[in-house]
Amino acid sequence: MGFSVSTASGIATAAKSPRGKTMLVEGKVVAAEAKRLQRKAKPATGKTATEAEKQREKDGQTAEATTAEAERPHAKAELAEDEVVAEAKRLYDKVKHLGWSMEDCFVYAPLTLEINKLKKEKDAIILAHSYQTPDIIYGIADFVGDSYGLSKQACSAKQKTIVFCGVRFMAETAKILNPEKTVLLPSTEAGCSLSESITAEDVREMREKHPHAGIVTYVNTNADVKAESDACCTSTNAMKVVEGMPQKEIIFLPDELMAKNVAKLTRKKIIGWRGRCIVHEDFDAEKIKAIRSMHPGVKILVHTECTPEVVDASDLAGGTENMISYIKSSDAKQFMLVTECGLGDRMRVEFPEKEIVGTCNLCPYMKKNNLKNILSVLKEPRKEQIVELPEEIIEKAQKALNKMFELTQK
Ligand code: 13P
Ligand code: SF4
Repeated sequence: MGFSVSTASGIATAAKSPRGKTMLVEGKVVAAEAKRLQRKAKPATGKTATEAEKQREKDGQTAEATTAEAERPHAKAELAEDEVVAEAKRLYDKVKHLGWSMEDCFVYAPLTLEINKLKKEKDAIILAHSYQTPDIIYGIADFVGDSYGLSKQACSAKQKTIVFCGVRFMAETAKILNPEKTVLLPSTEAGCSLSESITAEDVREMREKHPHAGIVTYVNTNADVKAESDACCTSTNAMKVVEGMPQKEIIFLPDELMAKNVAKLTRKKIIGWRGRCIVHEDFDAEKIKAIRSMHPGVKILVHTECTPEVVDASDLAGGTENMISYIKSSDAKQFMLVTECGLGDRMRVEFPEKEIVGTCNLCPYMKKNNLKNILSVLKEPRKEQIVELPEEIIEKAQKALNKMFELTQK
């Protein structure tokens, strides 16, 4: 007997709980082996479809997967029972650290199998940011990382298609670095409050106002904004890029809080903008102090998109990759990750002996990608899911990105 899988109807409608665990509310798992293993697994969450939909909306998950893509006819994939069992076990081995049950994994397994087969057939690589959900990270991603690592990976990808499980500015960066490749973004709603805060015209005006300043632009910007800049930077290398620029005055765009954090560490004059990350601006220093008193010895790792007060209350401030390296090399047992929830889940899976404490915030944009829209984009991308950029923008933005690589690889 085979597994009959239709992504349009039979597979899970998933909802994110506040602490980031995906709960299953509908599924189609038919094999006897699946049932046997399910009986051994924890009971299902018992959420109704309506409750889950409400939760989904609350957590900012897209309607895309349940509307546009779901309404399109999908071919049924026949999967062998033992393949599905093996895949569910493979997934469970990772996500059991997050409290997912074997039953959860049986619902995801047919989808991850189908995506993994299709990506080979289509000569595609799947790149995923650490803020993506565990089913994406452990089910289908070929490479998981931060903005910098993903852009490096995009440069060295051999495949002719890149499926970018992240937000639009990341997929655009992959396209700028690989104009000859097809770059696909599963959700057209995966934006970013920082990239939306500034236009190319704003950058031109800043340059006119401060003609002697160098312009360093955080990668969390649209391609045309990058094209107006002298160099790009990511959260892991912002200081290095600023210090490496020849000018004494730097226009640092668009993150107001990161600009303030950089300004505290450099002698250069930093001119900022008014952009903010809606996920990181929300953390406050008082809560961090409370966590410290509740967990003596805890290490507090903070993203540099947070306020300077939050950064001051930390043991480390940096990008997501800096946080991972810190955890890897630290003897401490408890960590608070002052960032998006996806990173905490990744750390729980990859360092089960360490404890992640405190709260985190969800990025509604990052969570717009899901297995359904990934499968759909691989099968037959809609025009708006294919990243296209004008040639002159690609050329100019490439220079700014290459300047970043030049300054950080020295
Ligand atoms: P990292 O490059 O540190 O992963 O950050 C990306 C991002 O969007 C932070 O909010
Ligand atoms: Fe943008 Fe913040 Fe979401 Fe990162 S976490 S994609 S900076 S809104």
